[in-house]
Amino acid sequence: MAVIVQEHSVQSSKNDVVSEFFLTEDQCNFAIMGGAPRWVDIALGDVPALGLALPAEQTLVSPELRLGKDTALLCELTSGRAHISFRMDGEDEELLALRAGGAVTLDLRALEGRSGRVSVRAEEDVVLTKLLIGRLDRLGLLSARTHHARRVANEKRHFATVYDHPMYDIRGPRGGAGTFEAPPRRGRIQALPQLTVEELEKLPCSAPRQGDDAYHYAHHVLGEIIGVSAPNFAERLGSIYKKRPVRMLSLCSGTAGIERGILEAAGVPIEITLFDINENLLAQAADVVAPYARAFGVAGDVNTVSTAQFATRFDVVAFVSGLHHVVELEHVLQTVSSLLEEQGEFWLIGEQIGRNGNRLWPESREVVDRLFATLPEPFRRNAHSGAIDNTMPDSDFSSVTFEGIRSSEIEPMLLRYFEPVQIYRRNCFLWRMVEPTYIDNYDVSNEEHRRTILRIVAAEYNLWRDGGRSTEMHAVYRRR
Ligand SMILES: C[S@@+](CC[C@H](N)C(=O)[O-])C[C@H]1O[C@@H](n2cnc3c(N)ncnc32)[C@H](O)[C@@H]1O
Repeated sequence: MAVIVQEHSVQSSKNDVVSEFFLTEDQCNFAIMGGAPRWVDIALGDVPALGLALPAEQTLVSPELRLGKDTALLCELTSGRAHISFRMDGEDEELLALRAGGAVTLDLRALEGRSGRVSVRAEEDVVLTKLLIGRLDRLGLLSARTHHARRVANEKRHFATVYDHPMYDIRGPRGGAGTFEAPPRRGRIQALPQLTVEELEKLPCSAPRQGDDAYHYAHHVLGEIIGVSAPNFAERLGSIYKKRPVRMLSLCSGTAGIERGILEAAGVPIEITLFDINENLLAQAADVVAPYARAFGVAGDVNTVSTAQFATRFDVVAFVSGLHHVVELEHVLQTVSSLLEEQGEFWLIGEQIGRNGNRLWPESREVVDRLFATLPEPFRRNAHSGAIDNTMPDSDFSSVTFEGIRSSEIEPMLLRYFEPVQIYRRNCFLWRMVEPTYIDNYDVSNEEHRRTILRIVAAEYNLWRDGGRSTEMHAVYRRR
């Protein structure tokens, strides 16, 4: 039998400066001052676990770390008391005094860009079960990388016998000690090439459309190249329409500009109920949709929306860029589910599903920081401050508004109440670079400006294709 065993290298060597660290039995890339590492088997409740025993006054010191953006430290002791410090320039800065209990996560953003070593000093005998240092959104991954060899051994032992149970007999015979051919060896598979501006410029979609500004031009080109399409909401309305007018509810409708376009394109009889906290916007919306639908308005706070506020169930309930303003997601989604007809659809149109507060996820941030630094100054003029930005601001808009208040929870939360029918996600960062802060820096009729926009679109596409997290979603769900 020729089975290929993949080598898995889990961490860099002791002398490298790294940006993350996880305490693991597999690799001694840390030091114990005044002793040697001693791993002990312990029980966390009835679950076996592994801990590093640190006798009183011994100190564990991590490898040299250079702390990047959004770094956090997670530590867990199951016995004793310890002090966690960051040692830089020969000085120890105490970060935390910790006693045994649950895991503690510490935000290290204040130390961004600093180099040093994390130390854990045992004040009394300590058993350390976790020490992870890295980007906040990678702590789960770092935790999963710990004790790899032990997990592999356990995995092999467990699955060596698990299928002997009669419940698996339905799968048929288990086989013996068979043999495989060695897989044919061909050349290495090349990574997918990055899309370039030159390639984009050759595509028909790179021609600007009448009235395009930088935002609409960039998003139109992106929409053409990503090869997946958003739900056609107007068509869906058309196919929902049977004998009576389609009943639609739009929550956080504002002036219902997007709804208007959908109603017009659908061209079927519709009764639309518009719900918003802002009565002035609702009054404008009444005029906007009047030519295309019979309209009703309900003023209220969506966080306390209730079925009692409506006289009927709906064929469609929609949010157009509104769900990311909602605090009470659980209540609102449960209520939407109750408001839908049996086969009713829940639509999210242009929803923000990115990081809370409209911040960029770290992988997008890295690309934006590199790209932004290459933009000529006129493209970096900030319309709000009037200044030239050196980096794109990383503000958390949810700190004092409802902008993106729980946006990163939206997708998993939806799956608690609904089943997905069609989901379209894109836009790792593009919108941030061409929204009102910078949009007026671009004249789409100017070839050089268009080229710059296409450079941003190409970077967006390449990141999205390679696993960058989307911030924009258009989706159709059904109730359970
Ligand atoms: C980003 S705007 C979207 C408006 C509109 N759907 C659109 O796409 O133009 C958010 C809308 O949510 C409304 N809104 C914010 N908080 C709300 C709340 N708690 N209850 C109801 N509406 C709310 C605002 O008044 C605003 O109209």
